[in-house]
Amino acid sequence: MDDIRLALIGTGQNMIGHLRSLVHIDGVRIAGMADVDPERMALAQQQVEHDVPAYLDYRDLLGEVEADAVFIAVPNYLHRQVTCDCLDAGLHVMCEKPMATSVADCDAMIAAAERNERILQVGLSCRFSRVDSKACELVAAGEIGEPVMVWAREFRAPFAKKFQDWILDDTRSGGTLLEKTCHHFDLFNWFAGAGPQGAANPTRVYASGGADWVYADIARLPEGRTEAEAPTVNILDNAFVTVDYDTGARANLALCMFADHGRKLEIGIQGTHGTVVYYRLEFRVELYNADHRGEASVIDIEIPDQEMHWSHHGQAYLEQLYFFDCVREGRRPEVDGYVGKRAVEISLAAERSAKTHAPVEYEATRLPG
Ligand SMILES: NC(=O)c1ccc[n+]([C@@H]2O[C@H](COP(=O)([O-])OP(=O)(O)OC[C@H]3O[C@@H](n4cnc5c(N)ncnc54)[C@H](O)[C@@H]3O)[C@@H](O)[C@H]2O)c1
Repeated sequence: MDDIRLALIGTGQNMIGHLRSLVHIDGVRIAGMADVDPERMALAQQQVEHDVPAYLDYRDLLGEVEADAVFIAVPNYLHRQVTCDCLDAGLHVMCEKPMATSVADCDAMIAAAERNERILQVGLSCRFSRVDSKACELVAAGEIGEPVMVWAREFRAPFAKKFQDWILDDTRSGGTLLEKTCHHFDLFNWFAGAGPQGAANPTRVYASGGADWVYADIARLPEGRTEAEAPTVNILDNAFVTVDYDTGARANLALCMFADHGRKLEIGIQGTHGTVVYYRLEFRVELYNADHRGEASVIDIEIPDQEMHWSHHGQAYLEQLYFFDCVREGRRPEVDGYVGKRAVEISLAAERSAKTHAPVEYEATRLPG
């Protein structure tokens, strides 16, 4: 097959990360890029060896550049519009997570992919991490029996500065529990349904959260800035979220966005017959079961040297390779619109529960066939 001609829309921090590995992939050629900010586009251009046509309006790119596929990394509230326009223009789409900021937007994106018979992959890239994948493989192999409890504990530093502070405003980002932890909720869905008995659907979400430290501070007007220049800051910076599944399994997230020190990301799955627990940033998965009681079987995850320097220690690279394989083979990606929407559903339920202080019950979207 000829090179896949790839367009890039939204050339901010995430796309610059993607480019670090994208430019090393054979059989893919960057055909054009678009961003409303020429400075950010210039930075992206520096990463590509050949001259790439650049547009301030992505619709001009769609009209003028011949492309087969597109990576979209614009602020979350724009995902629906840009994705649907690209699918309607006949491109296969890899849209960054979270899929969108509403369930209706997810539905519109799925419909556009189906109507145009094009691939829609959602950037839930943890599914491509060698560490998370090893954990899921152990669950799927029945090493711990049926999943009963899944947990994620992430204590981390605040969000990095974004274009026009979109990330701090829940009307543009969807809130912290969508923007950041759709990844965690997707892992919950993946692991809860990975056991021998299969499918697991969320039924109820309870959340308690607040903006108690870092985002409370940022909301104060920085010195020298006028009221009109103050960013809108209305997102959570800490939360506990619990998700119940129809299998009887439950999952829990503990998130803190102001832990500059002692940063850890622990994820675990407790099954009927054992435990898988791992520390994402330490590339180590531990398995406890009847064969390894008391002392864990420790599986060190080897990350090739080159990948260590790429976005998220190579997970974005593996995600890219998978997307291009799907495009070449005309295959529906596993991380499709339905998977993306199921993560959005939990995120939005969690945001709502944190506001209302009440559990949110809903009928989760089922995975097709
Ligand atoms: N998969 C992951 O782990 C991961 C990591 C980081 C970010 N993301 C996602 O990537 C997306 C972008 O995040 P980011 O960190 O790069 O933010 P960013 O603010 O650094 O970049 C966003 C870019 O979009 C551009 N943009 C804004 N409006 C536009 C429009 N109408 N048309 C074209 N370009 C436009 C901005 O100028 C900016 O360059 C978000 O959806 C975010 O959630 C995913």
